[in-house]
Amino acid sequence: MAKTQYKSAWFCSNCGNESAKWEGRCPACGEWNTMVEEKVSTAKTATRGARGTLRLQSELSRPQKVSEIQTTEQERITLPSAELNRVLGGGLVPGSMVLVGGEPGIGKSTLVLQNILSIRKRTVLYVSGEESAMQLKMRADRIGRMSDNCYIVTETSLNNIFAHIDAIQPGLLVIDSIQTIADDALESSAGSVGQVRECAARLLAYAKQTNVPVILIGHITKEGSIAGPKVLEHIVDAVLRFEGDSHQMFRILRAIKNRFGSTSELGIYEMCQRGLREVTNPGEVLLGNGSDELSGTAIGVALEGMRPFLIEVQALVSTAAYGTPQRSVTGFDSKRMNMLLAVLEKRVGFKLAQKDVFLNLAGGLKVNDPALDLAVISAILSSNVDMVVARNTCLTGEVGLSGEIRPVTRIEQRLTEAEKLGMETFIIPKNNLKGIDTSARKIKIIEVARVEEAFRTLFS
Ligand code: TYD
Ligand code: MG
Repeated sequence: MAKTQYKSAWFCSNCGNESAKWEGRCPACGEWNTMVEEKVSTAKTATRGARGTLRLQSELSRPQKVSEIQTTEQERITLPSAELNRVLGGGLVPGSMVLVGGEPGIGKSTLVLQNILSIRKRTVLYVSGEESAMQLKMRADRIGRMSDNCYIVTETSLNNIFAHIDAIQPGLLVIDSIQTIADDALESSAGSVGQVRECAARLLAYAKQTNVPVILIGHITKEGSIAGPKVLEHIVDAVLRFEGDSHQMFRILRAIKNRFGSTSELGIYEMCQRGLREVTNPGEVLLGNGSDELSGTAIGVALEGMRPFLIEVQALVSTAAYGTPQRSVTGFDSKRMNMLLAVLEKRVGFKLAQKDVFLNLAGGLKVNDPALDLAVISAILSSNVDMVVARNTCLTGEVGLSGEIRPVTRIEQRLTEAEKLGMETFIIPKNNLKGIDTSARKIKIIEVARVEEAFRTLFS
């Protein structure tokens, strides 16, 4: 009588919830069609190992009064890339586990490799399950950095990885990628929800026990399917997402979760021939290279995270060739643009119903800051009336449904940024500067209360 060594279990690829039977909808997170079957060993699984060690820790701990907890100021590990440090909230925290997620080919391996090759003070172990040591050497050559402290190993078995860790005793561990490594104790293949969860849990236990920081690289497919880092997001201390269109040169590193810092930080990189270059002055690249004045563009001052930047909004308004006018938007919320078009129709009297409207943000960025509204409608109107918005003028302001321009947050930072990039006129919402001293500013500030007022200022 053959006795099976494993049974089936279903895991949600979105949240990692385990269920004994298949379900169309995950009972935990409510997502449809996310349950995938996995073979789980009924014998001793590594789960017990990892949980066992965690239980041991919890037996030792006892509740303490907050006031009595001793804090030893953890010294953060400063990484070579200043942008990365900022996104991490001031460097890497010892003992933390950071997930760097992103679509394949976006540059995750390059970003991490480039940084660890410049670390002098610590031994780094880079485990690659995807590329051979030679490929990685070629990449290091391309980036143009060499390091004696960085060890590279191609390995996919978690147990072997721990053997390498014992041998090398690294001060920083990188796993590229978590989807390629597997714990032999589990039947399922690498990349499945069970494996990803299990491996991450064991690596986390390692990080917490030894105080060695662990950087995990994880893929997300466009659909976010099979064991996407969603499962991991609950386990790790920080999740950084590396995004950007792979046809565009710019990459944005965003913190989506960070137990040791703010999630509103953002770093901008440019993919060059020799690795990633930090874009420390985003205004330069986002403003395009147009020195000649054209209608249909306006420069807005938007805020992503804590960081203000100037961005060129381009619009094209033309008479609709077909019955239904086209509305096409890249980088901005299309519903919001439709709302702004309705405001223009109703409050300002521009007839846009029979026009095609195309809108584009330069540099391939996606911006959610409502303060970009004023620049968006200015670009649309500029194209519609075929009049130029001066290139040394920038705008910021949220547009309300009745055509009023509402104050925006962090106006001082926006002013400083605009001034830094050589803008001469800044159109801002009325009353936004209450209590702020602008006497030392060189930039000319014009306050507007309504959309019509902004147009009179721009085009007369
Ligand atoms: P990679 O880091 O392998 O992406 P990921 O690990 O996220 O899958 O790199 C992706 C792309 O970057 C690759 O198509 C080639 C390009 N690239 C450059 O343009 N310049 C460089 O110096 C390097 C190393 C890569
Ligand atoms: Mg890679």
